[in-house]
Amino acid sequence: MAIIEVKDLVKTYKIMEKKEGLIGYFKNLIKPKYREFDAIKGINFSIEEGELVGYIGENGAGKSTTIKILTGLLTPTSGSVSVNGIIPNKNRIENNKNIGAVFGQKTQLWWDLPVIESFSLIKKMYKIPENEYRKNLKRFTEILDLGELLEKQVKNLSLGQKMRCEIAATFLHNPKIVYLDEPTIGLDVFVKENIRKFIKDINKEKKTTVILTTHDLRDIEDVCNRIILLDKGQIIYDGDKQKFKDSYGKYVIAELIIKDKKKDIVLNDAEILEQFENKLKIKFRHDETTIVKIMDEISKFCNIEDIHMKEEELEDILKEIYKGAHKC
Ligand SMILES: Nc1ncnc2c1ncn2[C@@H]1O[C@H](COP(=O)(O)OP(=O)(O)OP(=O)(O)O)[C@@H](O)[C@H]1O
Ligand SMILES: [Mg+2]
Repeated sequence: MAIIEVKDLVKTYKIMEKKEGLIGYFKNLIKPKYREFDAIKGINFSIEEGELVGYIGENGAGKSTTIKILTGLLTPTSGSVSVNGIIPNKNRIENNKNIGAVFGQKTQLWWDLPVIESFSLIKKMYKIPENEYRKNLKRFTEILDLGELLEKQVKNLSLGQKMRCEIAATFLHNPKIVYLDEPTIGLDVFVKENIRKFIKDINKEKKTTVILTTHDLRDIEDVCNRIILLDKGQIIYDGDKQKFKDSYGKYVIAELIIKDKKKDIVLNDAEILEQFENKLKIKFRHDETTIVKIMDEISKFCNIEDIHMKEEELEDILKEIYKGAHKC
């Protein structure tokens, strides 16, 4: 049975229509007018235990709204959500025992306390057995390099240091499911890599189910094997990451080292991204032409010394989808 089941989920927010000026201010107070906005428009998905799912989409697509519903912070307008057999908004305390959540910049640690004290409080709150706590603390300290941070007050930590502690705190009670809503925002590449490795290691070791929301698509490339792509409150793709890339990544980028260029290169089947005396960068659709044909065309202008090809990355494909160039 799926560990997360979402059926026909709708979330409608009520937004107050603000009237301007002093009279408007009083009108707002006396008789506020509301309009409705559907942030989630009837979505369905189910997630099996141990999956690493990238939940992605443009700003305002409805990702955080979904995660807040899954954690029980928000109530669905209609439809149903089940997390490990529990309806989150109806049984938040029970649901909290099974889950961990990181919401971007918000902290679950106690601001004025040293990190280790926050961890001790979490141990008490979740009744984590002593040996389990010790084991996790040791392991997490190692992977996330927390050694020097444990005695520091949370308020004195840098953003990256805080997020490493935050991630450790989230996994301390061995949650079955972890929601990470933009855990790598604003972090340097090393901390990002550190966090990605941690998520992968723990998922492998403990079969933790992870739903990851991020705008850094390298997080998804590195960590997730499935993606759910949300667009204005609707799911437009749900499936294997590689299949997604195979189906929608129609372009190939090729970098060529050239010499003896006779004149400016002009190509029919490929777009020229850059051209210099000894270097050429092109982009072409692999379903419309082949590199052999293109090389044949290029060789009329120069000699080709070397070639390096790469497929479009997730980020490039999504840019095209957001622009409306590809339909899912
Ligand atoms: N409390 C609220 N009241 C009214 N509208 C809201 C509320 N919370 C979110 N929204 C709206 O719902 C839509 C979805 O918001 P949500 O925060 O879920 O998007 P998101 O996909 O997480 O975006 P981002 O990538 O920017 O974090 C947005 O248009 C947002 O303005
Ligand atoms: Mg969000």
